[in-house]
Amino acid sequence: MPRVTITREVHFSAAHRVFNPEWSDERNFEVFGACANPNWHGHDYVLYVAVEADLDRDTGFVMDFKDLKSVVESRVVQDMDHKNVNLDVPWMEGIIASAENMVVAIWDRLVDRLPEGVKLAKLTLWETPRHYVEYSGE
Ligand code: NI
Repeated sequence: MPRVTITREVHFSAAHRVFNPEWSDERNFEVFGACANPNWHGHDYVLYVAVEADLDRDTGFVMDFKDLKSVVESRVVQDMDHKNVNLDVPWMEGIIASAENMVVAIWDRLVDRLPEGVKLAKLTLWETPRHYVEYSGE
């Protein structure tokens, strides 16, 4: 059967501060710029979740888009949307809230929650309309 990739797009708005708690404020501003502001700031994140599988002979699907939406909503969006990534998201605790670290943590939230035979192929996380990060699990 043909192997096809399908992608679901989801949005969430979240606050964060990107800083290394072991560094001085000065060093944090030097490395992380405005993202190190102590009083937080927000982004409108856009996440693309791509999964791949052999097409199902009976449905012509990779997986049901409804089910993909539901797993991404329940495992990621509900925890992140209108939350503070540093303070409110248990699975980001102790992790620097960079988009890179976020996309890896999101991968771990999703990778073992897909139907049998469906592989998480790639995550793309847009932090602003001008930059994004990608992760394929390696
Ligand atoms: Ni930021």
